[in-house]
Amino acid sequence: MQNQFIMAGVMGWPVAHSRSPAIHNHWIQHYGLTGAYGLFPVKPQELETAIRGLQALGLAGCNITIPHKVEAMKFMDWVDPLAQRMGAINTIVRQPDGALHGFNNDGFGYIQSLREEQPTWRADTGPIVILGAGGASRAILLSLMDEGATEVRILNRTRSKADALTEEFGSGVTVVDWSERQNALSGAALLINTTSQGMHGQSSLDIDLAQLPISAVVSDAIYIPLETPLLARARLRGNPTVNGLGMLLHQARPAFQAWFGVMPEVTPALRQAIIATL
Ligand code: ATR
Repeated sequence: MQNQFIMAGVMGWPVAHSRSPAIHNHWIQHYGLTGAYGLFPVKPQELETAIRGLQALGLAGCNITIPHKVEAMKFMDWVDPLAQRMGAINTIVRQPDGALHGFNNDGFGYIQSLREEQPTWRADTGPIVILGAGGASRAILLSLMDEGATEVRILNRTRSKADALTEEFGSGVTVVDWSERQNALSGAALLINTTSQGMHGQSSLDIDLAQLPISAVVSDAIYIPLETPLLARARLRGNPTVNGLGMLLHQARPAFQAWFGVMPEVTPALRQAIIATL
């Protein structure tokens, strides 16, 4: 029987748009726990003070979002090796002795969201094409490699960022020039958009899907809108599609487990509750 009021939240700047409170508070209620998850708008220059405040206030921990994911690592007493490789954290878990441990569950969220839609999905089925070379791309690439991906093609408008991202990997990860994006789809088993193109208010991704096999899974890290123009085009030509909502929901699970002691499920009710806020 839980008798302690457990508190957590998300630090970001700005952070008002975050769906994390809706997700975690849904689970707190669903599992009959006592606690709360709040929003912490933290200015970049106050990040360290805010993180130290977790210890002073006795919070269970917090999520870290844009623009703090890289900077927050500095203030951790320990960082999970996967998060270290990603160079960013999205979760802090306060230990019983007050030590702060940093994790990154974004890649876990992505892999789980694929599995949820495609239970038989395997990383080594065929070539994987990743568009974009920012933080989301890095988290997804590392997780796909850990899952056993054998051939990954990275394309980014600014090629140098893709080159830097792939430096540590062997011949299985290649950089393809952005101008070659149409041809790069040939024979692919999975296409992932991690660029901001297709997001609400942005122009849609400029890519012709003609060379993409109809069997290829097409996924987008974007969840506003739920169906990006890329996913709509892919669906109309017959490709299976995976939107970004699953990644958002699944990345929250390990953090909730660490703070509240229950590994929560992504249910249709949770999905509907979050879609209603979009
Ligand atoms: P995140 O950390 O969420 O991945 P990010 O670091 O801002 O976000 O990365 C945004 C991605 O979208 C980058 O890969 C960016 O390409 P550049 O590195 O060339 O900036 C990509 N992107 C943004 N606008 C784009 C556009 N008009 N066409 C193609 N790619 C674009």
